[in-house]
Amino acid sequence: MLWSLLFITLIGRSTQQDPGCSPGWETIKLDDKVAFQSSVYTANGVNYTSDRALDRNNATCSDTLNEPITWWTVDLLGLYEISCITIYNVNQYNIDLRGAQILIGNSSERNAANTTECTTINTTTSGENNTFNCENGTKWGRYVTVYKNTSGLVILCEVTMKGRKKEPFKLIKENKTWEDALYHCREEHMDLVSILDKETQGWVGLEAQKADTPFVWLGLQYICGFDFWIWVNDQCVFFDQWAPDETRTAVCGTSAAMNTSGNHLWYKKSVYDKYNFICAV
Ligand SMILES: *[C@@H]1O[C@H](CO)[C@@H](O)[C@H](O)[C@H]1NC(C)=O
Ligand SMILES: *[C@@H]1O[C@H](CO)[C@@H](O)[C@H](O)[C@H]1NC(C)=O
Ligand SMILES: *[C@@H]1O[C@H](CO)[C@@H](O)[C@H](O)[C@H]1NC(C)=O
Ligand SMILES: *[C@@H]1O[C@H](CO)[C@@H](O)[C@H](O)[C@H]1NC(C)=O
Ligand SMILES: *[C@@H]1O[C@H](CO)[C@@H](O)[C@H](O)[C@H]1NC(C)=O
Ligand SMILES: *[C@@H]1O[C@H](CO)[C@@H](O)[C@H](O)[C@H]1NC(C)=O
Ligand SMILES: *[C@@H]1O[C@H](CO)[C@@H](O)[C@H](O)[C@H]1NC(C)=O
Ligand SMILES: *[C@@H]1O[C@H](CO)[C@@H](O)[C@H](O)[C@H]1NC(C)=O
Ligand SMILES: *[C@@H]1O[C@H](CO)[C@@H](O)[C@H](O)[C@H]1NC(C)=O
Ligand SMILES: *[C@@H]1O[C@H](CO)[C@@H](O)[C@H](O)[C@H]1NC(C)=O
Repeated sequence: MLWSLLFITLIGRSTQQDPGCSPGWETIKLDDKVAFQSSVYTANGVNYTSDRALDRNNATCSDTLNEPITWWTVDLLGLYEISCITIYNVNQYNIDLRGAQILIGNSSERNAANTTECTTINTTTSGENNTFNCENGTKWGRYVTVYKNTSGLVILCEVTMKGRKKEPFKLIKENKTWEDALYHCREEHMDLVSILDKETQGWVGLEAQKADTPFVWLGLQYICGFDFWIWVNDQCVFFDQWAPDETRTAVCGTSAAMNTSGNHLWYKKSVYDKYNFICAV
């Protein structure tokens, strides 16, 4: 059994040119995602914009200016477990991504503190598909970046990636009072959502945008006898996103709801109001 597995692995390695992704991962749909890059090269009236790496046309490429640090980033608009990235480039003298890093992060910032490295590109990417598997296993994040800190260009003709979407939070498009929302989340999922940091605020905001009510309930409740706000997971409020004119003190029977548009600020609302809500799943 063990030997035959090993045998299959060896055959697989020796017959494939592009080792590809580990099997079992879905191709992430990218043409509805948003890309950015450090700068945009323009020639003959063509802007070599970042989206050209995602347009499923391997003849159109994105291209940055030649600068000391250059990068290209795609925002997957959700949390993904990423297994591998495939890059195709045309065969052209100034394309060399060797030494560039593939970074995965939860914020659009590209510094070491906010990203984890998937792998470093160690082959030329010209003229053929090259697949880069994340070293040491899959990585989780929302932003995938090709980051080059040696002067030159980042040119990408086609980028594809495999992984799977992770949904830590789920919008429930039903109009319920705060308590009914809480019961629903606890019965069907884990709990009404608690937002303890900026990153979670970002994920919940993305879900909230799909709501059909102007606000969505959060798991933040006012304990009026004690003039005290507390998350349903028993955490105190260290991170907050109150709208500027919301005072901390409230009347009894108040909970917090997030504006479904704009910066997704928090508002105090009567627990009897009926809104869509977001569960932690
Ligand atoms: C290229 O970008 C410039 C500056 O953003 C813009 O003015 C121009 O219309 C763009 N050209 C094309 C063909 O999109
Ligand atoms: C991004 O957030 C998810 C969920 O909170 C976490 O599992 C993952 O490790 C984070 N990724 C990075 C690069 O910090
Ligand atoms: C990036 O990392 C720094 C240092 O850990 C942190 O203070 C900052 O809030 C992070 N930025 C985002 C957008 O998460
Ligand atoms: C993978 O793990 C090895 C050993 O712990 C480490 O040296 C290497 O830097 C890791 N690679 C990445 C991309 O995290
Ligand atoms: C590139 O890195 C991968 C993974 O670390 C390794 O398997 C491969 O042999 C390297 N290729 C070259 C040309 O160094
Ligand atoms: C590039 O696109 C052409 C036309 O669709 C296709 O024939 C060719 O195989 C593609 N090349 C790669 C490496 O995917
Ligand atoms: C290169 O990868 C793209 C996207 O995964 C795929 O459509 C294309 O067929 C691949 N080309 C070759 C020659 O394998
Ligand atoms: C470029 O990135 C590599 C890999 O992370 C790092 O070792 C090196 O110090 C960086 N160089 C500069 C100039 O920041
Ligand atoms: C919830 O209320 C909104 C208006 O606030 C309405 O547009 C929507 O249809 C309602 N949804 C359900 C499932 O009743
Ligand atoms: C919700 O946010 C939008 C966009 O920023 C803003 O126009 C609207 O006034 C906010 N709702 C409330 C009740 O403040």
